[in-house]
Amino acid sequence: MPNQNNAVKPTYERSKVILDIKHLTKQFKVDDGRLLTACNDISLRAYEGKTLGIIGESGCGKSTLVRTLLQIQPATSGEAIFEGHDLLKDRGEESRQDRRKIQMVFQDPTAAFNPKMLVKDILTEPLKNFGLIKNSEVDAKAAELLEMVELPASFKDRYPHSMSGGQRQRLGIARALSLEPKIIVCDEATSALDVSVQEKVCELLCRLQKEKNITYLFIAHDLGLVDLMCHQVAVMYLGNVVEWLEHGRIAESCKHPYTKALMKAVFKVDFRPGEKIEPMEGEIPSPLDLPPGCPFASRCEHCSENCLKNKPALKEIEQGHWVACHLF
Ligand SMILES: Nc1ncnc2c1ncn2[C@@H]1O[C@H](COP(=O)(O)OP(=O)(O)OP(=O)(O)O)[C@@H](O)[C@H]1O
Ligand SMILES: [Mg+2]
Repeated sequence: MPNQNNAVKPTYERSKVILDIKHLTKQFKVDDGRLLTACNDISLRAYEGKTLGIIGESGCGKSTLVRTLLQIQPATSGEAIFEGHDLLKDRGEESRQDRRKIQMVFQDPTAAFNPKMLVKDILTEPLKNFGLIKNSEVDAKAAELLEMVELPASFKDRYPHSMSGGQRQRLGIARALSLEPKIIVCDEATSALDVSVQEKVCELLCRLQKEKNITYLFIAHDLGLVDLMCHQVAVMYLGNVVEWLEHGRIAESCKHPYTKALMKAVFKVDFRPGEKIEPMEGEIPSPLDLPPGCPFASRCEHCSENCLKNKPALKEIEQGHWVACHLF
């Protein structure tokens, strides 16, 4: 498990820990009464003003992890320490204040907007909910937020359907910024955008991070983008964190056989001669029936008897680099 007090002293500078996730497990009871384990004993840290990328195949539990942190659904067990208290056990007013400090930007912002509301009302709704704005201040605040995300202030009197996908995503970011959050969760926030618009939105996110010292939890399928955007990267497989890199590029430094396979399975525009996509073989076990050993054993070319029987713990193999694999 990642341990801040680990004896291995990092040679790079760590920022202050803003979110310390400890042994978070989330299980869902499905229709036939069985338990589906979407997140299995996850321990991770996010640092102030930095971006923690979370990658892994569809269904590995990325969204469940962040939805649980945001208390959209209750955790089964574990802790998430934020500003000295456990986010997962918050109640009442404390939870409300946490929601103010941890905001989310969705993949499809349109679905989160009321189509009958003007942009200025969409942008200032969170402030109204917290009683932080008077009606007379709405226009000026909306203009300020639009400017922050490089949209014309005149958009405040429009409806979201009259904006492009990229502009709507900026609107989603502006709305998330309205409450001056400490953490913004971006769950596939740029995935639906075309590449050039995605690049601009990512540049905007990076600029805002530097200006406001925001921490991002950044979920994306585009591994190249994650490598560029993120200061730390966690790799999830079947509800488990199998690799966690606190610094450096995951593409260059990854060690876990799953991460390596994931890297080979992605499309690149600059394939070298002879290089090609290598799709991963083998079946992913069901989250309804987790294997006793390594979750990746059924698809791993290095699988041994030990891997089938014993689950490897996440351990620090180099400074700031944790891997859950019996090879290390
Ligand atoms: N409310 C729920 N009830 C039952 N099972 C759920 C629920 N939400 C998620 N799951 C299951 O939990 C597992 C993890 O789902 P999750 O949405 O977190 O994956 P993900 O990594 O975000 O995938 P994607 O990349 O496709 O968005 C999946 O097996 C999913 O079917
Ligand atoms: Mg998801």
